[in-house]
Amino acid sequence: MTPEQFLELARVLPEPLLLVSSDGQVLATNQPVADMLGLRRQELRGKTLFELVAESANDVIRYLQACSSSRAMVIGSLTLRKNDGQTLICRSQGAVIQPWSPESLALILLRLENRTLASSNFVLLNEKIDELAKEVQKRKQAEEALLKANQELEIRVEERTTALQETLNKLQLTQTQLIQAEKMSSLGQMVAGIAHEINNPVSFIHGNLHYAQKYSQDLLKLVQIYQRFCSNTPLEIQKYVEEIDLDFLIQDISKLFQSMKVGTERIQEIVQSLRNFSRLDEAELKQVNIHEGIDNTLMILEHRLQSRHEYPEIKVIKKYSQLPNVTCYPGQLNQVFMNIIVNAIDALEALVVNDQWSKVNPKTTYNQTLIKNNPQIEIKTELIDEKWITVSIADNGLGINQEVHSKLFDPFFTTKAVGKGTGLGLFISYQIIVETHKGQISCFSAPGEGSEFVIKIPIY
Ligand SMILES: Nc1ncnc2c1ncn2[C@@H]1O[C@H](COP(=O)(O)OP(=O)(O)O)[C@@H](O)[C@H]1O
Ligand SMILES: [Mg+2]
Repeated sequence: MTPEQFLELARVLPEPLLLVSSDGQVLATNQPVADMLGLRRQELRGKTLFELVAESANDVIRYLQACSSSRAMVIGSLTLRKNDGQTLICRSQGAVIQPWSPESLALILLRLENRTLASSNFVLLNEKIDELAKEVQKRKQAEEALLKANQELEIRVEERTTALQETLNKLQLTQTQLIQAEKMSSLGQMVAGIAHEINNPVSFIHGNLHYAQKYSQDLLKLVQIYQRFCSNTPLEIQKYVEEIDLDFLIQDISKLFQSMKVGTERIQEIVQSLRNFSRLDEAELKQVNIHEGIDNTLMILEHRLQSRHEYPEIKVIKKYSQLPNVTCYPGQLNQVFMNIIVNAIDALEALVVNDQWSKVNPKTTYNQTLIKNNPQIEIKTELIDEKWITVSIADNGLGINQEVHSKLFDPFFTTKAVGKGTGLGLFISYQIIVETHKGQISCFSAPGEGSEFVIKIPIY
């Protein structure tokens, strides 16, 4: 580059530029350099670099040589001597633009940069970076806070949902209990009403039977006296005596009255059981004989235990131990006995009705016949210690498979046909035994092995 070309170029560039030869001659400059030095451009003409800077001539030469022998840009530091006597430290970037040749010296372009400005820019930049970093930090913190708030919110929502679900479950439970309580109370009222209605006519039949028997005996005695004193019985009377088979009548009539008495007594017992079972009058804790409750329940279920149609008789085997009276809600406990015994009867009938045995356990056809012929429910009571008694109700019916077993006590769980099962029996029983009486209820069963329900209740 000739000094002229340089001047062309330097005019359009705003940076301070110097064209020097490797021996330190200033060949050309531009206006920014003059401004930096506080001189006019004409005043720079013919100057050497040594005159313009504070560094020693040796240092300057060494720097210029370094520039001319390197292909890359060489960075150096030059302290400008300004016209007003002050100095200005500059950073210099030197690049050889025409290398040394035997004919001419190397030409070097120096680009100056005010160091204080640069460093102040640097400070500014640093500040800017600091600010940015702080901003980033702040945003990060805000993001973290937001994330945390979000997580807390999610946890709170989850907690609320769980609480709501619990409340819902409780409500559903209360609802089913209410429905059941309502059903039982109306059933109880109905049973008590019917029992009362039957009780009156049965009482006067039973009461009058005694007189009817006595009167008929008196009349028969009268006939006998007649026979004794009037040996000449008219033919018509003799005929009638034969017709009615008087001797048999005399024998049979007392038997007849006897069985009528047994019949009315049985009705009275059933009525009493119905009253006891519904126990409308006993909503409070009472000390009762558990066996009476079981017997009352069996009495009410008698019609399902007897053989009828295709169903064989179900034998009830009672193995009662000596038990103290138990403090409990008797009406509720009777309901539990009822639910479990009815399930046992259902399980025994299921074998007969659907011939389900083969479905449960195809290998036990022999058992099936056996059990069909010998369906039974065993009820066993035991005094465990001074605090606990157990009542176990076992059947040799259908049995329960693993899947059903895990859901037995769930509300509305039933394997029975629509209209036959409600799925509430065991659920309610569980509530009564576990919640109300602080006892335990458990089931032992396997398909084809029958089932056993064991209730454990505290005596007090
Ligand atoms: N003794 C039993 N033998 C076989 N299965 C039984 C027995 N007791 C209960 N189960 C099973 O438990 C289910 C639930 O019984 P439960 O709550 O009384 O309702 P439900 O009798 O209305 O079906 C029954 O549907 C039946 O599958
Ligand atoms: Mg049931």
